[in-house]
Formats: sequence, structure tokens, C-alpha cells
Amino acid sequence: MKYALVTGGSRGIGRAICVRLTREGYYVIINYASNEAEAQRTLDLTCGRGELLPFDVSDSGQTRAALSDWQQRHEGEYISVVVNNAGIRRDSLLALMPEDDWHRVLDISLSGFYNVTQPLLPAMQLHKSGRIVNMASVSGLKGLPGQTNYSAAKGGIIAATKALAQEVARRGITVNAIAPGFIRTDMTQGLDEAELKKLIPVGRFGTPEEVAEAVAFLVSPQAGYITGNVISINGGLYT
Ligand SMILES: NC(=O)c1ccc[n+]([C@@H]2O[C@H](COP(=O)([O-])OP(=O)(O)OC[C@H]3O[C@@H](n4cnc5c(N)ncnc54)[C@H](OP(=O)(O)O)[C@@H]3O)[C@@H](O)[C@H]2O)c1
Repeated sequence: MKYALVTGGSRGIGRAICVRLTREGYYVIINYASNEAEAQRTLDLTCGRGELLPFDVSDSGQTRAALSDWQQRHEGEYISVVVNNAGIRRDSLLALMPEDDWHRVLDISLSGFYNVTQPLLPAMQLHKSGRIVNMASVSGLKGLPGQTNYSAAKGGIIAATKALAQEVARRGITVNAIAPGFIRTDMTQGLDEAELKKLIPVGRFGTPEEVAEAVAFLVSPQAGYITGNVISINGGLYT
């Protein structure tokens, strides 16, 4: 059995990735923070090819405990694909930003990457096979005003992707990032889509499925020579 862990798999982009990876023959481990009803919906969409594994990726103790519990229940197996997708945004100008909003965004997107990936690496290295895909953002490439915290977290994940890729390349593990632009999910609800899409050359927001397609490619055997890269999926917004 091929196991893929998708953090933040209960909704949006994470859900589409879970569904897409089951089509590639993966058994998906659907992580989420608290929204059990939505996580259950994702699980239903995997048609029996998945399981739920709730934990807060920003909590290293909780994350380690959940992953170690999973490992004990799946002796002899290992998670060969991890998609670090969990993320939140708490936007405001830095001058007005509460300290908690700074830390929360970095703790989930950036420390979450460490908390989840670090315990899974030894098994990937042992099997000389693994795929790590990190969900960054156009904000991490360009920096967006009102998103200093989010841009820092996503810029950090891009740098971490490039560093880790070089550490593990000889072990058959690839590490890549995806930088979506505006994708229609709960995270972008409330944004002025009509106004924003005027800035997007393709003229519309993207769909979670369009992001999931790139993840499916990056985890495929055919993508074994692609590592340390960032793929933008943004309708031409910024490249
Ligand atoms: N949508 C966009 O336009 C866009 C653009 C660029 C990048 N991104 C990135 O793409 C990723 C997915 O975004 P989305 O739009 O699909 O977001 P979303 O619809 O808001 O879903 C967020 C997901 O992350 C999970 N999550 C949040 N905090 C978590 C935590 N502490 N531990 C574990 N899971 C946690 C949520 O779980 P619960 O359901 O339990 O809350 C949910 O599954 C994020 O990293 C985001 O920054 C999105």
C-alpha cells in the first residue's frame, strides 16, 4: 500500500489533493485541525481509500504522538508522500498586527512543516523513496502588503524546500513547493473576487483541482528529476 499524508485535508485545496491522490493509487491519511464534519466529507470522497488523522500541525508533541500512533498501527509500512498543505491567514498591516497573528500563521505553515516532515524523513531515507510537497503561495515569492506574517511563512517554506531538497536528493526523495495565486476556497471567501480577477491575466480564480493536478505530477515517478523547485499556479498573476 502507498500512503500519502495530506495536512489540512478536510477542506479546499487539501481535499482536492486527497481525492486526486486516491486516483493515483494512494491510500490517503487526511489530517485536519478541528473540522471533523468536513474531514468526514473528504473521507467519503476517497471511497474507502483513506483514514482521518486529526492533529494540530503547529503542536509538535501532538503531531509526533499522532504520527507515532499511526506507525504503531501500520507496522512495516511507511508514509512515502507528505503534502504540507495546512495553513491559515490572519491579514493586517504589520503596524496593526497582534503578536498572536504573527506567531499563529508562522507556527502552522512553517513550524508545521518541520513538525510533520522531520519524523517522517527517517523512513523515507531508509526506503530511498519519498515525495514532499509544500504548499507555499504567490505571497511567499512576491510578498503581499497586509500579509507580512503569511508572506514570511510562505517565503520560509520555499527556502526550506530548497534546502531540504539538497539534503535528501541522493536518498531518492524529492522536495518541491507549489505557489498558488488566488484559488477559490474558504480561505479566499470574502475577498472581492470581481475586483481581484481583473489583476489575473487568465481572468478568474483557480480551482483546488488545478492545484491538486500539479501535486499528483510531483509525487509521480516521472517527476523524480524535479526537486527544490517552486511551481506557480496563478493564472499568470506573478511568475
Ligand atoms: N486558497 C488560496 O487562494 C491559496 C493561495 C495560496 C496558497 N494557499 C495555501 O494552500 C493551503 C490550503 O489553503 P485552502 O485555501 O485550501 O485553505 P482552507 O480552505 O482554509 O483549508 C485550510 C485547511 O487547513 C487545515 N488547518 C488549519 N490549521 C491547521 C492546523 N493547525 N493543523 C492542521 N490542519 C490545519 C484546516 O483544517 P480544519 O478544517 O480542521 O480547520 C483545513 O483543512 C494553505 O497552506 C494556504 O496558505 C491557498
